[in-house]
Order: sequence, then C-alpha cells, then structure tokens
Amino acid sequence: MIDLARLRMAFPDRQILHFASLDSTQRAAAGCEPGTIVLADEQLAGQGRHGHAWHSEPGTGIYCSLVLPSTPVLTLALGLATVEAIAQATGIQCDLRWPNDLMLDNRKAAGILVQLVDGQAIAGIGINVNQAEFPEDIGHLAASLRRHAGREFAREDILFALFPAIDSLIAEDTETILHLFTHASSYVAGRRVTVDQPGGAITGTTAGLDPAGFLIVRRDDGTDTLILAGGVRAAGS
Ligand code: BTN
Repeated sequence: MIDLARLRMAFPDRQILHFASLDSTQRAAAGCEPGTIVLADEQLAGQGRHGHAWHSEPGTGIYCSLVLPSTPVLTLALGLATVEAIAQATGIQCDLRWPNDLMLDNRKAAGILVQLVDGQAIAGIGINVNQAEFPEDIGHLAASLRRHAGREFAREDILFALFPAIDSLIAEDTETILHLFTHASSYVAGRRVTVDQPGGAITGTTAGLDPAGFLIVRRDDGTDTLILAGGVRAAGS
C-alpha cells in the first residue's frame, strides 16, 4: 500500500484522495476541485489513449490523476515531469516517445492521458513500477522499472518527486517545454519511425516539433507530414 500519511504530510495543501480499488482515477478526478490528486492501488477499467485499456494490476503500479489548469503542450510537460521524477527517485532514465509514452528498453514503462472536463485538465499518469510480468497480449510492449532494474521500488518515492516536478514544469512556457522535450526524447529528430495515420501507415524520419508541439515526419520523397495524434513507433518494430 502507498504510505498516504507520509504523502499528505509532504503535500499539506493538496487534496489527496486514495482508493484501494476503483474503475479509473480519471473518472474519480473529474469534477474535483483544482489541485486534487486521485490515487488508486488498482483500477478495474484503467483508460489509455485512443480508447485503449491501461493494465492496472493491484499494488504494483502508480495510477494517478491530477486536476490541473488546461495549458498548451500539457501532455509533453507531464511526460517530462514523469521522466524527471523517475530519474530522481530511482536513478532510471526513461526515453520519451512523442507525445505521451515513457520508454525503457524500447518498451512502454509509463503513459500520460490528458482529458478536458469542464475547462479543467484531468491529467492521468500510469507508471509500471513493480510489475514482475504482464499479460501475454502486452508482454512484448510493456516495461516496468522492476523488470529493468531487477529490484523493486517504493511507489511513494516516485510520487514525492512527481508532484513538485509537475508543478515546476507546468509553470514553464511552451517554447521551454518544446526545447526540453526535444532534448529528452530520442524520437523527436532523426529517428526512423512508422506512424499510423487515418489513410494508412507512413514511414519517414522525424524532423522536430512544430511550434504547437506536433511531430514533423519527413518522408523519403522529402515531403513533411505533421503528426497530430500518437501512433508513432520505431520503424521495423
Ligand atoms: C496511455 O499511454 O495510453 C495513457 C495511459 C494513462 C494511464 C493512467 S493510469 C491513471 C489514470 N487513470 C486512468 O484510467 N488512466 C490514467
């Protein structure tokens, strides 16, 4: 169990709600006051992007939603904050796959889901911390900090680092976030990728972020395509 008393003592100004089990922290956070943090030990209907489910095994991962002001490039800022918190708490350096995936060993170790509800952002963060294994259908795609490092980590240590990192990164301007993301992610420039698009998959080389934070992919004929949503993967994978 997450040590809630310690967490509440460290962040006395935040409302921190904790559930042993619930459908999704995203649903529980919708309608809560700004600044609220919702945590669960288990989610029965964890939500990922694009209607995917988020595997939320009891007691091993971080399942967290925060009520935040809606700011530009919030997904990118939250990804950076999560990378920073994991590095600070565990020494593990994750890569960022635009726009919302934290990668370890070319597999996904954490994901960000931002939903707008009544003008507020419900910012969901799922981190695979102590999972020893994953269901067969995602086993080749998912990483956990434990599987990477060969040892377990205290989830509170990551949360202690996460909340201040979020506060500091969401206070930065868009230009700074784009600059930091570009430097923290091996996917933003010079990476051969395949991207699922409405008209079919395209393959090309990433060529940076546009001023709004969208990913530019340069195809082999020299034309650029602006990627507005996710679906980016290393070419050939
Ligand atoms: C993704 O990469 O697809 C986003 C995953 C987001 C998962 C988190 S876990 C906490 C919060 N509650 C949810 O139901 N989803 C987000």
